[in-house]
Amino acid sequence: MKTIRSYIDYLQHYQHSTDNPEAFWAEVASHFRWQKPWHSVLQWSFNPYQVRWFEGAQLNLSENCLDRHLATQGEQTAIIWEPNDPQAPVRRLSYRELYEQVNQFANVLKNNGVRKGDRVCIYMPMVPEAAVAMLACARVGAIHSVVFAGFSAQALADRINDATCSLVLTADVGQRGSKQLDIKAIVDEALAACPSVQRAIVLQTTPKGCPMHPTRDRWWHTELAQAAADCPPEPMEAEDMLFILYTSGSTGKPKGVVHTCGGYMVYAGYTFANVFQYQPAEVYWCTADVGWITGHSYLLYGPLLNGATTLMFEGIPTYPDPGRFWQVCEKHRVNIFYTAPTAIRSLMSFGEKYPAAYDLSSLRVLGSVGEPINEEAWHWYHDNVGRGRCPITDTWWQTETGGVMIAPLPRITVQKPTFATLPLPGIQPILVDDKGHEISGNPAEGNLCLKFPWPGMLRTTYGDHSRCQQNYFATYPGLYFTGDGCRRDEDGYYRITGRVDDVINVSGHRIGTAEVENAINEHPMVVESAVVGYPHDIKGQGIYAYVICSDAPADADEFRREVLREVTRVIGPIAKPDVVQLVDGLPKTRSGKIMRRILRKIAEGETANFGDTTTLLDPTVVDRIKAGAAGLRG
Ligand code: PRX
Repeated sequence: MKTIRSYIDYLQHYQHSTDNPEAFWAEVASHFRWQKPWHSVLQWSFNPYQVRWFEGAQLNLSENCLDRHLATQGEQTAIIWEPNDPQAPVRRLSYRELYEQVNQFANVLKNNGVRKGDRVCIYMPMVPEAAVAMLACARVGAIHSVVFAGFSAQALADRINDATCSLVLTADVGQRGSKQLDIKAIVDEALAACPSVQRAIVLQTTPKGCPMHPTRDRWWHTELAQAAADCPPEPMEAEDMLFILYTSGSTGKPKGVVHTCGGYMVYAGYTFANVFQYQPAEVYWCTADVGWITGHSYLLYGPLLNGATTLMFEGIPTYPDPGRFWQVCEKHRVNIFYTAPTAIRSLMSFGEKYPAAYDLSSLRVLGSVGEPINEEAWHWYHDNVGRGRCPITDTWWQTETGGVMIAPLPRITVQKPTFATLPLPGIQPILVDDKGHEISGNPAEGNLCLKFPWPGMLRTTYGDHSRCQQNYFATYPGLYFTGDGCRRDEDGYYRITGRVDDVINVSGHRIGTAEVENAINEHPMVVESAVVGYPHDIKGQGIYAYVICSDAPADADEFRREVLREVTRVIGPIAKPDVVQLVDGLPKTRSGKIMRRILRKIAEGETANFGDTTTLLDPTVVDRIKAGAAGLRG
């Protein structure tokens, strides 16, 4: 792999990547296994949006993750699985064992009618079979759509229907701390509304199992027993779809971000090697669920593309106690640990004694992802987990970028707490003002955009390219707009300040305000609602909902609980509002637009400085909302 080993290397690679992007990426790509070479490295336009990397080339991602390593490191551990229950046995899969399981499961997919280009939904707990499922899809050329197993039946059904999946891979239950999640029951409910699904293959993880639909459902183990051992990797065009991953935007339903085989592979592989400075035989642990992009790129594909040992953890950070992460680090001698600021903040609240109780001397590099890391959490992580020895790589990126874009390289880039620091080679960020004019010079603050393509960028939103164009390329024509605000300091270091659109980042999860509003509005008594984010000590942002009811509810607390149940039903518990305020009106302009700026200020606890409110239809509503807000945030 093309790796950066010093700051001089970084500067040279960066320069080369902007002077001659095609030569730079061709060299990176040459480290992978291609069944057929490309005839063109890059063709692109941001207006209208179309980008094609490694045109003409053929490859298979599972071949690059597995077959490529067999000769040299077939016996090395690919996946260490740490179960939810600390007393239960650990599972270890060598590269050879993983290869065998993926081959055989790829044949299960074929036996069940899956063909190249078909969409397969994966709704599974954090067990090695989830990784096997993803790699097997890649092997046969099926497009996987992994849905986080915390989404509700309705959210799952929406995603399955949007991608018209023909098959669902799932499990009986999932273990999360002291709770057991009835995954199959959620799938059953979802599939009642999914006409495209012909088959569900169900992994049995407990002796009890679960009810099975007589014609639709098959057991994972019985299917495996009937499948042949070898499945040659399907030759895929570089620009064939690899996977769809749904993510929230500022409008409408979540969109299916599409990544393609060649570019995604090159970018996930390259960034993993560089961002974590992975060394052979190290144990790497990313705590993200496979249902998110971090789980795709840095739990599974990035590490396996580099022949790394990746740890997969089924449980949660606070079970059986808030020392669990550190106990797992000690037990498996973890060298690189990658998690989200929300986890750090939550563990911080239990005190230093938990990390202090474990031997964390194996740790070498720490990582952070998903949301801005505040200074206090950065220092706590650095001092108590890294014991002052481990650099922290604060990685900024998105579902749409496929891999890390801006991050300090451990022991190479001089770090600065809360700064994602400098762009990786190949990445050309710019800041623009609200009119789209570039803000040059340092320091600067503006909207973060990218002016040149990189191999891991999304290609489209599934089934609707105009939505992709509109969402990412229309705000500032000729640029990819990230939706994030950003500061660049006097050293040219980037610090992401948070979303500037109607997306809330709750515990590192992206939630669209419109989605939550739509869910709340399903309650029969709700006339209208408006949802905003507000600063939350642990989650980063909390969800604040202003709700207008048709009649004053007899029991306001019960009504609030009903609203939460409604959101849980439509989206899932992660989108539950932290605060529900009943209001008799919303601050609207004469043209009917809600002034969210005011609602955000009230949610933040501001009592004055609402700016110009003269354009409001009824300015008195602000005082009434303000009065009602007092004390609600607790
Ligand atoms: O606002 C940024 C924030 O998370 C958003 C992307 O969310 P998602 O697509 O779910 O991907 C999360 C994992 C990559 C971004 O638009 N974000 C992500 N990483 C950081 C961050 N904000 C600040 N600092 C980060 N390191």
